[in-house]
Amino acid sequence: MMFGSNTLGNGWVVPADDAAITAATQLLMAGQLVAIPTETVYGLAADAQNAEAVARIYAAKGRPDFNPLIVHVRDQKAAEKLGVFNATAQALAEAFWPGPLTLVLPLQPDAPIARSVTAGLPTIAIRCPAHPLMQALLLKSGLSLAAPSANPSGSISPTRADHVLKGLGGAVPMILDGGSCSAGLESTIVAVRDDGWQILRPGPVTSEDIENVIGYAPLAATNGLIEAPGQMASHYAPSKPVRLNVIASEPDVYLIGFGAIAGDDNLSATGDLAQAAAHLFEALHTADASAAVAIAVAPIPHEGIGIAINDRLARAAVR
Ligand code: TXA
Ligand code: MG
Repeated sequence: MMFGSNTLGNGWVVPADDAAITAATQLLMAGQLVAIPTETVYGLAADAQNAEAVARIYAAKGRPDFNPLIVHVRDQKAAEKLGVFNATAQALAEAFWPGPLTLVLPLQPDAPIARSVTAGLPTIAIRCPAHPLMQALLLKSGLSLAAPSANPSGSISPTRADHVLKGLGGAVPMILDGGSCSAGLESTIVAVRDDGWQILRPGPVTSEDIENVIGYAPLAATNGLIEAPGQMASHYAPSKPVRLNVIASEPDVYLIGFGAIAGDDNLSATGDLAQAAAHLFEALHTADASAAVAIAVAPIPHEGIGIAINDRLARAAVR
């Protein structure tokens, strides 16, 4: 493959200049995979309408085929071809798109997507991302792009191009390098129903943010079903054991600190939760690559985006 031979950059990682964006567009239109930064994490993108391209995503990630993908669109108009918007969905799209919010909506009967994207579900997850690179590719290609996080299934999500290279390197023809992701945690996933809304995955847009727009509280969690099939207990898992709420360092343990707990690395010395979210996965990648035998993480306040941080940490700690 042309980018494997170092024609445009270092290995498969290519600085995201105009030539690279054009090349990435061509790859996507030809049904190939491209890893692309978004404001949340790097995504592994493919044409959502092309079943073979979508199959390449599942194969590259080693992702079980019952776990559906998020479809990325340019704007709400494009989203309305894929999902059915009620008034609640309209209000959320207007308030938070483009941005780190994914809406799970009833699937339009004639939605132009491969069936494997939704894994046969009657609903579809749709997101309109704000990152200029993802927006440029959506616009130039005219495609809807299916894109899960660009990591091997179950491992830590990538917030930098070199994380993608390490995890998926040989399996991706091109990794567009757009620097570090600003939010650093995957999008908030909200299911919109006839009678209300529910958070399926906490993220950068908090429950309070949504309640402020919609004007009423989320529906109570239903019957224990895992509705975001990817929200499995063990996820984001480093190769080493992870211990949470640790306040003191120990020999051979890599301590990821927060606030006054300094650690070997610190998510935010000033105790800023947005900064901590942006740094979390990078810290886990670094800790995992270190010589330590285990990873410890300082307590993170369970408020605002801290709820999403603790969600990811809890999954990282399950083995
Ligand atoms: O920030 C993000 O959301 C990133 C960037 C690349 O957009 N993407 C991402 O995708 O995190 P992924 O595949 O790693 O996580 C998507 C989650 C999975 O847990 C999947 O099960 C869930 O969305 N999902 C997809 N379609 C769904 C549906 N119809 N109903 C419920 N959950 C769904
Ligand atoms: Mg993921």
